[in-house]
Amino acid sequence: MDRVTIHTLQAMKERSEPITMLTAYDYPTAHIMDQSGIDVILVGDTLGMVVHGFESTLPVSMDMMIMHCQAVRRGVKTALLIGDMPFMSYQISIEEAKRNAARLLAEGGVDAVKLEGGQAMAETVHALVNIGIAVQGHIGLTPQSVSALGGFKVQGKSLEAARCLLSDARALEQAGVFSLVLEAVPARLAALITRSIRIPTIGIGAGAGCDGQVLVTHDILGLFDRFTPKFVKPYANLSQVMRSAFEAYRDDVRAKAFPAAEHEFSLSDEVWDAITSELDDEN
Ligand code: KIV
Repeated sequence: MDRVTIHTLQAMKERSEPITMLTAYDYPTAHIMDQSGIDVILVGDTLGMVVHGFESTLPVSMDMMIMHCQAVRRGVKTALLIGDMPFMSYQISIEEAKRNAARLLAEGGVDAVKLEGGQAMAETVHALVNIGIAVQGHIGLTPQSVSALGGFKVQGKSLEAARCLLSDARALEQAGVFSLVLEAVPARLAALITRSIRIPTIGIGAGAGCDGQVLVTHDILGLFDRFTPKFVKPYANLSQVMRSAFEAYRDDVRAKAFPAAEHEFSLSDEVWDAITSELDDEN
């Protein structure tokens, strides 16, 4: 299969072919996801919550992101791989944004970076694109600003907020993002934004009118039970599968049913006889 590039995604929008995107944080998940034909794999800063157990994405550092990107990179051959810019890795100055985005590419091995924010980030996006870094935007509910937004809430409900989101989308397109994530945006507004810009939109809680969809993998696999947003559709209950496996292993070990003969390594009679006779001589 051909590698997915930012041009593949643009062509998919033009053919009205839905784009599939999911998050991955480790090698085995990324490998299975890539083999499953998912178009875009995001090493999201949600790893802070779903892998590391933090309350928010804010404690995620560049070093954490790079380590997870490296693991995911080893599992991905075909999908476009995007790494999230963590909190305060791009907001302080354009110089820092350039240095940190370059680290995600050079050390983490990703094909592109994603960062949160609208018009206020346009200059930063432009600077990154100008030095050859492909950038995906992310507007609507931007979890790194969750306190300023007053919680994990749907965005763009009022006329003023809807106008602002549309302007954010246009400003980011103008600045050069190759694609735009719309999170927790009313479906009609997300569809309007999608029609108003030429680059592909990827929705999460933004309805069917976007060019593609993304969800957090731990949410769809039933591996994160702290809360499940309304827009998540569960596709498996892996925590149940894992719990049953752990309990069965515990019971087998306690009952001495594991390991069985087929799990053991053999030792030749020659070595056995020699070592036991040496032991006999010692006594
Ligand atoms: O960090 C993340 O996983 C994300 C997705 C929810 C789009 O930004």
